[in-house]
Amino acid sequence: MNYHITTHCPNCFRASPSAVCPHCHFNRKDDIRHIHHLPLFTRLDKGYVIGRVLGEGGFAIVYAALREADGLAFAVKEYYPESLASRGLNNCTVQAKRNETERLAVWQKRFKEEAEHLRRCQDYPAIAGVVKRADLLEQNNTVYLVMERLQGCSLRTFLTEPKSAQWILTWLKPLLATFEQLHNRQIFHRDISPNNVFLTANNQPVLMDFGLAREGVRDSAMKSSAVGAGTEGFIAPEQMMNSANSRVDAHTDLYSLGGLIYMGLHGEPPPSAAHRVQGAKLKRCQAPDKVTAYLEKLAWHCLALDRDKRPENVQAIKREYGLFWQELKAEEKIISNPATKNINQKTIVPEFKHNEYDNASKISNIINNQEFVKNESQTEFYKLVGFFIFYALILLGVITWIALKEVNFGGY
Ligand SMILES: Nc1ncnc2c1ncn2[C@@H]1O[C@H](COP(=O)(O)OP(=O)(O)OP(=O)(O)O)[C@@H](O)[C@H]1O
Ligand SMILES: [Mg+2]
Repeated sequence: MNYHITTHCPNCFRASPSAVCPHCHFNRKDDIRHIHHLPLFTRLDKGYVIGRVLGEGGFAIVYAALREADGLAFAVKEYYPESLASRGLNNCTVQAKRNETERLAVWQKRFKEEAEHLRRCQDYPAIAGVVKRADLLEQNNTVYLVMERLQGCSLRTFLTEPKSAQWILTWLKPLLATFEQLHNRQIFHRDISPNNVFLTANNQPVLMDFGLAREGVRDSAMKSSAVGAGTEGFIAPEQMMNSANSRVDAHTDLYSLGGLIYMGLHGEPPPSAAHRVQGAKLKRCQAPDKVTAYLEKLAWHCLALDRDKRPENVQAIKREYGLFWQELKAEEKIISNPATKNINQKTIVPEFKHNEYDNASKISNIINNQEFVKNESQTEFYKLVGFFIFYALILLGVITWIALKEVNFGGY
C-alpha cells in the first residue's frame, strides 16, 4: 500500500483527504516534523510504517507506526541521541557526529540492553504496568524498539499544579505494585520521572523508558535535554554521583517515586539532590488533611538523601504505612463512585481524539502469544499431569475401599 501525506492520516494511517482526519480527528499540522526525524511513511523492516512523531527525548524519537501485515498500531522508538548523531544523505541512516562514533555505539548497546529489560518484564508471569515490547529492529545503523502503542499521556501533562491526595493515590497504588514486582526480579528502573510514567485512558500508570541508556545521556560531557531541571529532582544522589561504586537498587527507584508524589502534591518537582545537599529545602503542604499528610510523610521518607533512611522496598512501605492503607480503602470507594468525583477527577481522563482506535488489547494478545507460547504449553502439561494424579488417587481409593470390604466380608 502506498501512503501519502495528502491522502493518508499520519496518526491512524487511514485514507484522509482533508487536513483533519475524519476517522481519528488528528490534525496533520500537529505532526511537528524536523529535519532529523525519519520522513513520514518510511518503511522499516518487517513492514512497520512510520507515522507521526509522538514525542522526543534526549536519546530517542518516538513515532506512531502501523504494521502493514495486520493493520495494528504500534509505537516505534528510534535510538537517536541528538547530541551524538545526525542523519545521512538518505534521511534515514543514523551517523555519528565528529569524534562521537565510540559513544554512539556504547549507548546504542545500552539502548538494546534496555529493550532486553522490557522483554524480561514480559517473562511469565508478566509484570503488569510496564509498556509491552513487540519487536527490536536493527537497521539504518541504529536500533528501533517496537512497543504497544499506549493511549493516554504522560504524568507530566497532569502534574503542572497541585493535585488532590485522592487523585495521586489512584495511580500510586498500582505503581507501587509494579515496583514490587520489578524489584522482586532485581529489575530497577533508574529513570522514574513524570515523563516516563504514562497514564492510560482508564487511569492506569504504565512505566516506560528504563534508564540504562539514559544514564549514558547523563554523561557529564553530553549536553542534553535529558538533564533538564524537571528530571533532576527525581534522580537519587547516589545516581548523580555516577561513580562505578554508587549502588543503584530499590532505594534509588523509591527516591524518584518520592519525587513523583511530591510533584503531585506541589505541582513542581523537588529541588535536585545536588541543591538539597547545598541547603535547598523541600516544601511542606499547607494545612494538609489526613490523606495528604500521609502522602507527604511517604514522599519525604522516600526523598531522604541518605539512602539508608529511605524505605528499603515496597514491602517496607506496606509494613510501615499498611494500617493507613487499609483506612484509605473507604476513601477509595468514594473516588470510584462517579457521583462523588471531586473536581480533580476532571483532569484524570484526557480527551483521546487523536487515538480513537484502540488496539491495545489485540497487541497485548499478540505479544503475549509470541512470548508465552512455551509457558502456556508447559502449564497445559502440568495441568494434565495434575488431572492424571488426581484420578489415579481416586481410583486407588476405590480399589482400597473394595479390598477392605472384601476383607471385612471374609471376616464374616
Ligand atoms: N509506547 C508508547 N505509546 C504511546 N506514546 C508513547 C510511547 N512511548 C513513548 N511515547 C510518547 O513519546 C514521548 C517521548 O518519549 P521519550 O521517552 O523519547 O521522551 P520523554 O519521555 O518525553 O523524555 P525523556 O527523555 O525524559 O524520557 C513520551 O512522552 C510519550 O508521550
Ligand atoms: Mg521517556
